[in-house]
Amino acid sequence: MSVAKRNCDDRKVTTHRLVEMKQRGEKISMLTAYDYSMAKIVDEAGMDVILVGDSASNVIAGNTTTLPITLDQMIYHGKSVMKAVKRALVVVDLPFGTYQGNSKEAVSSAIRVMKETHAESIKIEGGIEICKSVERIISAGIPVMGHLGLTPQSINRFGTYTVRAREEAEAKRLLEDAHLLEEVGCFAIVLEKIPASLGAQVASELTIPVIGIGAGNGVDGQVLVIHDMLGMTDDFSPRFLRRYANLKDVMTKAVQSYIEDVKREDFPNEKEQY
Ligand code: KIV
Repeated sequence: MSVAKRNCDDRKVTTHRLVEMKQRGEKISMLTAYDYSMAKIVDEAGMDVILVGDSASNVIAGNTTTLPITLDQMIYHGKSVMKAVKRALVVVDLPFGTYQGNSKEAVSSAIRVMKETHAESIKIEGGIEICKSVERIISAGIPVMGHLGLTPQSINRFGTYTVRAREEAEAKRLLEDAHLLEEVGCFAIVLEKIPASLGAQVASELTIPVIGIGAGNGVDGQVLVIHDMLGMTDDFSPRFLRRYANLKDVMTKAVQSYIEDVKREDFPNEKEQY
């Protein structure tokens, strides 16, 4: 039995439409996806933005951080997602080590993503230190989403995944970085794991959309990692995560039923063979 499609505007979501959504107070929905089948479900459900996140390094490749994933691997995921998506705006993360060196490297990484995946935009982590790269990528015609707060590619500098910008000095820096990213032309910014009051302040001061993950509900939209919100993972339970299903249980039961059916020679039955 198929589930009814969400009644939403069928037009392709663009960076401009996201700004219009912010202006009229419509919240933006965003989720990650890394492959064709999942992206098709998410897109057909009516998601506004699909992020091909470098969290693929964790939930797909089984690494403990996002650092090991390569540009080739991100392009592979981006290509698979793009084959499925008709409506959502697709954003692909530039992975660690492909833009921090200099702005020339950043532009050529972003161009590879756009050329090879056909995605509509890229996301990179950081503030003032990456502004030159953001400017150059945008001047090459590529829309850029920023990412501030807890930036997982810098985990070795932070040393912990705890809430960022609780201290006044760090909050002030984050606010300045957010304004800077808007000034250099980012079309949106992700804020990860920061106090809700700071998230709301950034969203109210910026004209571009601010999408939060653990940044409270005063921002312009929300993003989660799909494996976490579907309950496929059970070893990651931050306060900001709401689980909308327990797919780990559902999948385990289905797999166990299959094993049982094979063992007792119930599968395949008469109707399931030629
Ligand atoms: O890679 C990712 O999934 C992300 C989200 C956590 C925003 O960057």
